[in-house]
Amino acid sequence: MNTIIKKTEVNNIDLEVIKQASDILRDGGMVAFPTETVYGLGADALDEKASAKIYAAKGRPSDNPLIVHVADVKQLEPLVKDIPDNAVKLMDKFWPGPMTLIFEKSDIVPSGTTGGLQTVAIRMPNHPVALSLIKNSQVAIAAPSANTSGRPSPTTAQHVENDLSGKIDMIIDGGAVGIGIESTIVDVTVNPPMILRPGYITKKMLEDVVGDVEVDKAILGKMSPDAKPKAPGMKYKHYAPKADLTMFRGEKDAVVNHINNLVKEGIAEGKKIGIIASDETFSMYKEGNVISIGTRSDDDSIARNLYAVLRKFDDMNVDVIYSEIFEDDGLGQAIMNRMLKAAAYHVLQV
Ligand code: TXA
Ligand code: MG
Repeated sequence: MNTIIKKTEVNNIDLEVIKQASDILRDGGMVAFPTETVYGLGADALDEKASAKIYAAKGRPSDNPLIVHVADVKQLEPLVKDIPDNAVKLMDKFWPGPMTLIFEKSDIVPSGTTGGLQTVAIRMPNHPVALSLIKNSQVAIAAPSANTSGRPSPTTAQHVENDLSGKIDMIIDGGAVGIGIESTIVDVTVNPPMILRPGYITKKMLEDVVGDVEVDKAILGKMSPDAKPKAPGMKYKHYAPKADLTMFRGEKDAVVNHINNLVKEGIAEGKKIGIIASDETFSMYKEGNVISIGTRSDDDSIARNLYAVLRKFDDMNVDVIYSEIFEDDGLGQAIMNRMLKAAAYHVLQV
């Protein structure tokens, strides 16, 4: 398959590009497009054959359901059995935005889109290109992150092209995304609502709107092999770079010294080594391939760079990656959730 790649500006959208993509979606094809979190791989959520193509292109396990993207609440209504009060409050505050809600699904949503579940995940993205595509096509767009299953999520059109070129009909290149980490998933079929995947919208932000919010226990800490997280995707090894990644916890100078020593040893053994530093420590690393993931004074910068840094180390073919650890509160919870998975929970105390 020849993948069409078309660029558009975000604030001056090329409607020809949107029209071409809309035709593909209405014909049951696949289009990758930017959202504010990560790039999504879209197809018609109500067409079981179309969503089946997404699983094949990504190599995604069939029990891992897709998120359905809508442009307004009118488009949501026919997809769900009811809209609980908590959902109304959260939608008012955070939509369009990086929050996905789980509802009881209506009969028109095929179980091929929901991985066989009776619930459906729905999100209204806050990105002009995504919203324009949904409105123009009038399609509720099922869209997982547009990466090959198991690889870091794509934050640029180039990342999508690297993974999926030749496997999908079209990529809309709207530049680098703003947030860089996937949406927070909140189950509103239960009371209190429960976070199934941490994301840009933090527990505290949700609690300010609806009071108590729980977190699915299965996703906290290292997951046991028989754990059943309520978001099926959370059980898969995910976000992983090709090289083994180890994180080091401890006082700043001690961590830097320890990593410098390991790098020296590794280089002596002929290994190519990647180091995930922060702006604060970047210049303290003496050898190895050092990349700063962002500044500790701004978690947003770390979220934005995270997946691109993991992909850069893949491109460089490093043998191992050593990383500093980051704060585990606020947005840091989502960052550490992704990094710990990328590291297969390999954390050493220095
Ligand atoms: O920010 C995002 O959410 C991005 C952009 C493209 O919107 N999408 C995204 O999709 O991250 P994906 O497929 O990579 O992750 C979807 C997650 C999976 O962990 C899946 O198991 C969970 O959502 N999920 C989907 N439907 C669900 C449902 N009915 N119940 C529980 N979890 C669900
Ligand atoms: Mg994903």
